[in-house]
Amino acid sequence: MSAVVILAAGEGKRMRSSRSKLLHEIAGRTMLSYAVDAATELQPEHVVVVVGHLREQVEAHLAEIAPHVTTVVQTEQRGTGHAVQVALAALPDLAGDVLVTYGDVPMLTSDTLVELVADHRGARTAVSVLTARVADPTGYGRIVRGAGDDVLAIVEERDASEAQRAIHEINSGIYVFDPQTLREGLAQLRPTNDQGELYLTDVVGLAREAGRTVSAFATRDAWQTEGVNDRVQLARMNAEVNRRILDGWMRAGVTVVDPASTWVHASVDLAEDVTLLPQTSLEGATSVAAGATVGPSTTLVDVEVGEGATVVRTHGSLAVVGAGATVGPYAYLRPGTVLGERGKIGTFVETKNAQIGARAKVPHLTYAGDVEIGEDANIGAGVIFANYDGVTKSRTSVGRASFVGSDSTLVAPVTVGDGAYVGAGSTLTGDVGAGELAVSRARQRNVPGWVARKRAGTKTAAAAEAASASSGAPDGGTPSPDPSGDDPVRLPEQTETVVPAPLSDQAVVPPGSDRPDTNERES
Ligand code: UD1
Ligand code: CA
Repeated sequence: MSAVVILAAGEGKRMRSSRSKLLHEIAGRTMLSYAVDAATELQPEHVVVVVGHLREQVEAHLAEIAPHVTTVVQTEQRGTGHAVQVALAALPDLAGDVLVTYGDVPMLTSDTLVELVADHRGARTAVSVLTARVADPTGYGRIVRGAGDDVLAIVEERDASEAQRAIHEINSGIYVFDPQTLREGLAQLRPTNDQGELYLTDVVGLAREAGRTVSAFATRDAWQTEGVNDRVQLARMNAEVNRRILDGWMRAGVTVVDPASTWVHASVDLAEDVTLLPQTSLEGATSVAAGATVGPSTTLVDVEVGEGATVVRTHGSLAVVGAGATVGPYAYLRPGTVLGERGKIGTFVETKNAQIGARAKVPHLTYAGDVEIGEDANIGAGVIFANYDGVTKSRTSVGRASFVGSDSTLVAPVTVGDGAYVGAGSTLTGDVGAGELAVSRARQRNVPGWVARKRAGTKTAAAAEAASASSGAPDGGTPSPDPSGDDPVRLPEQTETVVPAPLSDQAVVPPGSDRPDTNERES
């Protein structure tokens, strides 16, 4: 194969888009990338893309995904024949066959192109056309066959007779040409048709007139010849491509509970016994290892999910979930999240640049940005790793098997050592050594009788009175010290019930001291 010419200069008006039609995506890849890949797999000497409309966008995309292709500019779109003329002008010494295809026919595979080329060579014809028999041929060129099944002409719908319109075999617009036939034909094209364009299809009739033969190779998979002209077709094709991808994975041992609401890009890798629950979308370089369950309502982009892990109602990108780990429901994994084996990122937890060790747990209502959490550590509910001071981002680390109490804020940079405790409700601005308890919060004061004095006549006061009557305790009406006094009012038994045991341990938190010894530091 000397060259594959991909026609991609047209306007794509019906997409009604400021983005080139060819850059709209099917299963996470641009339409044009499919065409370029199928062409490249044939290993031709040249892959030429004819660009025109919005060519800056198209050229930039090609430079990124396929630097090996040659782009040729067709400044005025004067028809498919003209587009191929422009392409051949850039390839003066072409000796071998030329395959022509379109940039907006994404489902066409290189296997089908190989079959077309084999048919062309086997039949020794001057032109071979890829065709399909479709239920509704509206809009397509029709294949007019002669007695010996060879092709006499391709007639555009708008130029076709009634009888020709009744033909259901359509021209896909994909052909293999013998180079000489192509050159001669192109040189003779005239815009004598309804649109005043130079039609590539006319090369077929001209080849016949020159005494050459034209064959047609009909594919059984009509989807492969289908172009995308508007967003309705785009959605239909996306659904079909997705359906085929899911069929493939189901045959490979993946359970897809609801294929209609599950979207898996072609670039994704799944293992046996993966289960995908409804409304799951897996994109980019996402991989899911054996036995893992993803969904429902989960979107993962470039996420690696380990064996046997569970990811529920989660949005994640550029993250790694370890084997046996659990994530969600309602988790947001941002780039740089790495959750260790059997770790947990729970409900309403957002993580970013967060390395969370094996078996460590971040179960509820936490923001964990720029953190390293050691294995077996436990982060309580509502903990905030405050990583940003408005100017710079800083990191926090929590050591192995440490315990950070609920509703704590760790103002980065902070290091909590291995086996340390942070009391619930603390705001940490300094490091905590291994084995230490850090507590940083206002001390609790109870003011007996306050409700009776300040809220007399309310339901609350009535409840307080009833409670004291039934317990036989003072009715709360007893005068007590003014709450604005400096001395905390402490009832040891009551404090015991409010503050978790280790934090009320007087040996660890000396009376009168709100916090243990830490290197206090302003953030
Ligand atoms: C063309 C075929 C028709 C076939 C159909 C299949 C002709 C005359 N007709 O019709 O028989 O059934 O494709 O989809 O060839 N393009 C250029 N430059 C141009 C004109 C077109 O690059 O000057 C590109 C377009 O971007 C598009 C492709 O060629 O990718 C087809 O052009 P389009 O105008 O859509 O052709 P159809 O009318 O669909
Ligand atoms: Ca078209």
